[in-house]
Amino acid sequence: MAAKRKILIAGNWKMNGLKKDARALASGLAKKMKKTERPAFEMLICPPFPLLGLAADAIRGSGVKLGAQDCHAIERGAHTGDTSAGLLANIGCKYVIVGHSERRTDHEETDKQVRAKAGAALNAGMGAIVCIGETWAERKAGKALVVNRKQLKGSLPSGANAKNTVIAYEPVWAIGTGQVATPAQAQEVHAAIRKALIKLIGADEAAKMRILYGGSMKPGNAAELLALPDVDGGLIGGASLNVVDFWGIAAAAS
Ligand code: PGA
Repeated sequence: MAAKRKILIAGNWKMNGLKKDARALASGLAKKMKKTERPAFEMLICPPFPLLGLAADAIRGSGVKLGAQDCHAIERGAHTGDTSAGLLANIGCKYVIVGHSERRTDHEETDKQVRAKAGAALNAGMGAIVCIGETWAERKAGKALVVNRKQLKGSLPSGANAKNTVIAYEPVWAIGTGQVATPAQAQEVHAAIRKALIKLIGADEAAKMRILYGGSMKPGNAAELLALPDVDGGLIGGASLNVVDFWGIAAAAS
């Protein structure tokens, strides 16, 4: 029997919003969540660091969870401008996104660094959302599966299991472009990731581990993506910035 995996709808706010936007968005989602009996999905929002405290207040008691977009690999110390996983857990974060392609590009993060950050998140008692994904050039060259397998192997932290780690497949060419992966493209990569996970963490954990799709997911395309056998949720950027769209995606999971 196929493992039952709870759909995770995760909002990656990136570098967007001011206090008033965050308050409205987080409390709008909290309100909807409170009214939903036994939601078929887990909902997560990942605001920019300075808005985490405010968002934590706005979602308290609602069931909406809080996450961060990055953390440092080391526990504490002289790292100006960085934020430790321990502090993020302390202020209420349940997850940390690591290895997003924008961080891999903007900050030249390597698989090794991503793995260390994911490990720090796990050590702090949070879940790691480990992002991988190929570029358009890599896809065109027929290398999509090879690239994703390599990133997965290099970025997965030791001690990863289905409870503490989520994989996000985000084709770089689909992020923020409106060019969403077709269901066939998404399923092909998700299935290959799950197969690769068998070798890395064993068949039981691989069957239980959630693999999110990310890249131009919208209310209009969410249902067909979330219905795919190996797609267990979404990591959503643009459409996570307003209540109607983000809730519309979550509703497609029900
Ligand atoms: P997008 O971003 O939904 O705006 O394409 C997804 C992501 O980068 O996590």
